[in-house]
Amino acid sequence: MSKFRAFRIDEKEGKVISGFEQIEINDLSEGDVTVKVSHSSINYKDALAATGKGKILKKYPLVGGIDLVGVVKETTAKNFSEGDNVLVNGCGLSETRDGGYSEYARVSSESVIKLPKNINANQAMQIGTAGYTAALAIHQMEKNGQNPSMGPIVVTGATGGVGSIAVDMLSSSGYEVVAITGKNDQINYLNSIGAQKVIIRGDLDFGKRPLEKAVWGGAIDNLGGEVLSWLLKTTNYGGNVASIGLASSFKLETTVMPLILRAVNLLGINSVDTPRCLREEVWQRIGTDLKPQKLDIIASEAITFDALPQAFEAFIDGKIKGRIVVNIL
Ligand SMILES: NC(=O)c1ccc[n+]([C@@H]2O[C@H](COP(=O)([O-])OP(=O)(O)OC[C@H]3O[C@@H](n4cnc5c(N)ncnc54)[C@H](OP(=O)(O)O)[C@@H]3O)[C@@H](O)[C@H]2O)c1
Repeated sequence: MSKFRAFRIDEKEGKVISGFEQIEINDLSEGDVTVKVSHSSINYKDALAATGKGKILKKYPLVGGIDLVGVVKETTAKNFSEGDNVLVNGCGLSETRDGGYSEYARVSSESVIKLPKNINANQAMQIGTAGYTAALAIHQMEKNGQNPSMGPIVVTGATGGVGSIAVDMLSSSGYEVVAITGKNDQINYLNSIGAQKVIIRGDLDFGKRPLEKAVWGGAIDNLGGEVLSWLLKTTNYGGNVASIGLASSFKLETTVMPLILRAVNLLGINSVDTPRCLREEVWQRIGTDLKPQKLDIIASEAITFDALPQAFEAFIDGKIKGRIVVNIL
């Protein structure tokens, strides 16, 4: 195989630098499945990694991109064959091993998922890590007893990738969804993907008491900090609050009162290291009952591989709405 193009992230004299390079297959992390990548996507974490605004890579250099989809080109793994349509999300891509911003990827078969029947390659990356994480949160909440009769589910950071797909999946599954956003010009967008009510983040009154009036059945939080603290103390008896992100803060100040007096559950969600059987269960649901219905609105934008380096800054500035697919081919 001759040289091919990859978007690599490196560190020189304490500074993160990133850009396109021509590399060879043996430059990539080892793995028993070689994939001809067709699409990847951009997540907040990809933007942190590529710009150096967050310390994501555990070693340098690495190809960026925490998501990829494509066709198996070569494999020694017994459960995969040449020509299989596959995806990988998380599993150390662009953290401990080379990721999806490359014409070819070499990955461990342990991390590879066969594309669910009802999902094509483009849709898989419209969903990507963001949608997978939203589905994982809903799956864990429901395993813990969440159901639509418990009251509305709040989604914070609602116009982002995780938030948008969470709104879509919850609403299609019969939940009443309340979206919280910092963008007062995106209320129509949030309504169009399934939010019944939209609250502007700046209008929130966090209160000062350890428990405030309980109004939510549960929550999916992308922000952390005082918003997460407020969600815990305003959730109804037995509700689940899934903590996914820290777009606002990594801190959490709370008391045990919501946990003890309202049996509220704080669920940690990690999309990177999900055990394989759970990962397969969640992708299976993404292809069936949790299949997003509004992907054409949420992921209306796709960019070429060439345009990738210019696309990260808007994520860092919190200006992104929905999901962006990267066409690698
Ligand atoms: N636990 C996991 O495995 C996992 C997996 C995927 C993502 N994440 C994390 O989940 C979060 C969301 O990821 P994403 O891919 O959806 O990111 P994204 O597309 O960039 O969306 C993040 C959203 O958060 C809001 N936001 C951004 N900056 C903010 C700030 N400073 N203060 C308050 N709100 C802010 C904005 O939504 P509004 O304007 O609508 O409020 C923004 O659209 C990130 O923190 C990401 O690292 C975690």
